[in-house]
Amino acid sequence: MNAAETAASGIGADLVRRLFVLLKAATVYGPNNEGYRTHSAEARGTLTAALSRADPVRVEVREDRLFFNGAPITLPPGEAGVRFLCAELRRCGAGGLEFRGARAALELDAFVFAFVSGGARRERSLSDTARLLRDAGVNAITPLEPAGEDEGACERARTPEPEFGADAARRAFSRAVDTVEEVMARTRAGQDADLGEAKVAAAELAEQVVADPQALFELSILQRFDEYTYAHCVNVSIYSIAIGDRLGLGTARLAELGFGALFHDLGKAQLPRELIDKPDEFTEDDWRLMRRHPALGARALLALRRPLDAQLARAISIAFEHHLGLDGSGYPKLTPPRRQELFSRICAVADAFDAMTSGRVYAKRAMSPDEALRRMVQRAGTAFDPLLLRVFINIAGVFPIATAVRLDTGERAVVRRNGDDLLRPDVVVLADDGRARAKSSRRAIQRTLDPEENGIDAREVLRRAASASSSVTLEKSR
Ligand SMILES: [Fe+2]
Ligand SMILES: [Fe+2]
Repeated sequence: MNAAETAASGIGADLVRRLFVLLKAATVYGPNNEGYRTHSAEARGTLTAALSRADPVRVEVREDRLFFNGAPITLPPGEAGVRFLCAELRRCGAGGLEFRGARAALELDAFVFAFVSGGARRERSLSDTARLLRDAGVNAITPLEPAGEDEGACERARTPEPEFGADAARRAFSRAVDTVEEVMARTRAGQDADLGEAKVAAAELAEQVVADPQALFELSILQRFDEYTYAHCVNVSIYSIAIGDRLGLGTARLAELGFGALFHDLGKAQLPRELIDKPDEFTEDDWRLMRRHPALGARALLALRRPLDAQLARAISIAFEHHLGLDGSGYPKLTPPRRQELFSRICAVADAFDAMTSGRVYAKRAMSPDEALRRMVQRAGTAFDPLLLRVFINIAGVFPIATAVRLDTGERAVVRRNGDDLLRPDVVVLADDGRARAKSSRRAIQRTLDPEENGIDAREVLRRAASASSSVTLEKSR
C-alpha cells in the first residue's frame, strides 16, 4: 500500500467507526438527543473530510471485510464496527453504500434513522431499502448492489446472530469489561479516551439486563474473579440498570445510568495499583488515599476532550457522589452538605452489594449475598436510600444468587437463579462432599447456611454448574 492508500484506508476506518457508533446511537436515542448530536457532528466531519479527497465515497462489504473506495480497510475482521456494519448492510440487502457530494453529510441523519427504522432485526430487500431512503428524502446516499458475495456470506445474511440469550449476554458483559479496561488504562497513562464505544457498550448492557436480569446477575457472580476492578464496574452497572428498570426509567435513561455506573470508580485508575490490590486491611493512610477516588474520578471525566453532554455530566455526578451516603456521612466531606442525585443513590446500593459480596476493598472477607443485604438493611436511611434498597432486594431475591441454603429434605444447595416465585429459586443441589449434583426436588428452602462454616464455595459450584447446566427448579410443594 502506498502512502496515499494508507491515508485513505485510515479515513475509511475512521468513517466505519463513526457510522457504527452513529447507527447504534440511533437505535437508542432520538435525533435531537445531545449525545446523538455529538456523534452525528463527528460522523459528518469525517464524511466531509473523506469526500474532499474523493467524491463519491464508497464503503463496500465483501465476504466479512470492508472496503473503502476499493481498498481494504485496515480494521480486524472481528472488530465490533466491522461486524456490525457488515451485518447491517446484509440485513438491508445491500453490498455497500455510496456517498455523493456535500449533500451526503447534510442527509446523514435522515439516512441513519431511515436505515435503522422498523427495528434492528428487520430484513429488507435492496429495492425496499432504496425506496425507504428515497421516501426519507435521502438522495445523496445510496445502497449498492451486493457484488461477489460467496455462498457462505449469503447464508450468514439469512441467519442473523441471535440478539438475546446466554451468548449475547456474555458478549455484552465482556464488551463492557473491555471498554472499562481501555478507558481506565488510558486515564492511568494520562491519555484522552473515546467514550463513544463505552456509550454503545452501556446501551447494549442495558438491553440485556432489561431482557434477562438474572442471566446478567449470574455472569456478574461468576466473572468477578479475573479482573476485579473492571468486572466490579460492570457488575455495578448491571445492578444499577436493574434497579433503574424497576423504577420505570426508559431505555435512554437506563443507558445513561449504565454508562455512568461503568465509570463510577474511574478515580481508582489514578491511585497506586498496590493500594487497589492490597490483600490486607487498609491502614488510616491507605483510607486517606482511597477516599480521594470520587474527586479524582470526577476530575478525570471532566478532563476528557469531549463536549460536556448531559450523559457525561451525569457520569461525573455519579463518580463524585457514590460514597457520599444518603445522609452525607460518607466521603468526600462537603460543607454545605450535598444531596446525592438519584443515579448516585442507585449506584451506591449496587456498589456496596458488589463490593461486600466480592470481598475486596471495603470488606476483605467475601460476604454471602444474604449477609450483605442484611448489613445493608441496617444502614438503610443513613448510607442507603431505603426505597432503592427495597427495590434492589426485590430484584436480588429473598435468596440471592450464590446463597448457600438448606432444603427441607436436609440437603444443601446453592441458589443459581431467581424466577417469579422468590421463595423457590433454581438451585444446584450439593452432594455430601460439597460438589454439585443434578437432582430434581419438590422441597422448599428451609434456611440459609453460612458457606464458610459449611465448607461451600458457592461460586465454584455455580461455575461448574454453568458448564454442566445442572440446576433444577424447586417445584411448588403441595
Ligand atoms: Fe468507589
Ligand atoms: Fe465501586
